[in-house]
Amino acid sequence: MGPIGVFDSGYGGLTILNEFRKKLPEYDYLYLGDNARAPYGTRSYDVVYEYTLQAVKELFDRGCELVILACNTASAKALRSIQQRDLPGIDPNKRVLGVIRPSAEVIGSFSHTGHIGILATKGTVNSESYVIEIGHFSPEAVVTQQACPMWVPLIENHEHLSDSGKAFIQKDITSLLEKDPEIDTIVLGCTHYPLVQEYIESIVPNGLSVISQGEIVAKSLQDYLERHPWMETKCTKQGTVTYLTTESKEEFDRNASQFIQDEVHSEHITLK
Ligand code: DGL
Repeated sequence: MGPIGVFDSGYGGLTILNEFRKKLPEYDYLYLGDNARAPYGTRSYDVVYEYTLQAVKELFDRGCELVILACNTASAKALRSIQQRDLPGIDPNKRVLGVIRPSAEVIGSFSHTGHIGILATKGTVNSESYVIEIGHFSPEAVVTQQACPMWVPLIENHEHLSDSGKAFIQKDITSLLEKDPEIDTIVLGCTHYPLVQEYIESIVPNGLSVISQGEIVAKSLQDYLERHPWMETKCTKQGTVTYLTTESKEEFDRNASQFIQDEVHSEHITLK
């Protein structure tokens, strides 16, 4: 038995953890941010896969039976290989889940025009994961993507709401809406982006919905635990959260407060 593992390249996964704790407060969570090696968004498949696998193994070694990749880039580039290639050899009774499929499953129901925009890292966009997954669940949907390579570095460095930060965001939004003016639903396909949701909502045309994933993924985890009681009983329930970071713990504790309403006292670890 153990806590539910939550992994991200850095701080973004905290926006998902927030929603897990609101919906499923009884469980224990172990959060791991690979801050020392973030951002993942511009890294190659092989590197994202290698780093994500190391993180998953670490969370398993620390007792997690279930790990959520609360990172779209890792979900896009590493999840399938880990599930199919690695998990059977590591421990066939453990599970790793991602954030793209649960989002793709429901997103069609948010749109009236059937035209959906995806904002994500370059890695997620190039993987085409959203296009493929939304295609399974809403085959009629027209999906248009925009890579936003500057956003994660801006957010991690607290520059996202500076004038130049806003200019980058504005430019990417304009470019997405120029590619398809019929878009009425924009998915924030990176777990860092809820931090700029309010700003995006202030600059997009009226009637356009901007959707972040936290609540959707939390609902999907709740459903998963209900449908898999054998796994649910292995998740410990004391309502605790433990934070691990591969960078300085002081820095993590300070910056985490931007993403989560919690006093954070993290532990530094090294992944290999
Ligand atoms: N938060 C991660 C995501 O959802 C990516 C950030 C990064 O580039 O490391 O894609």
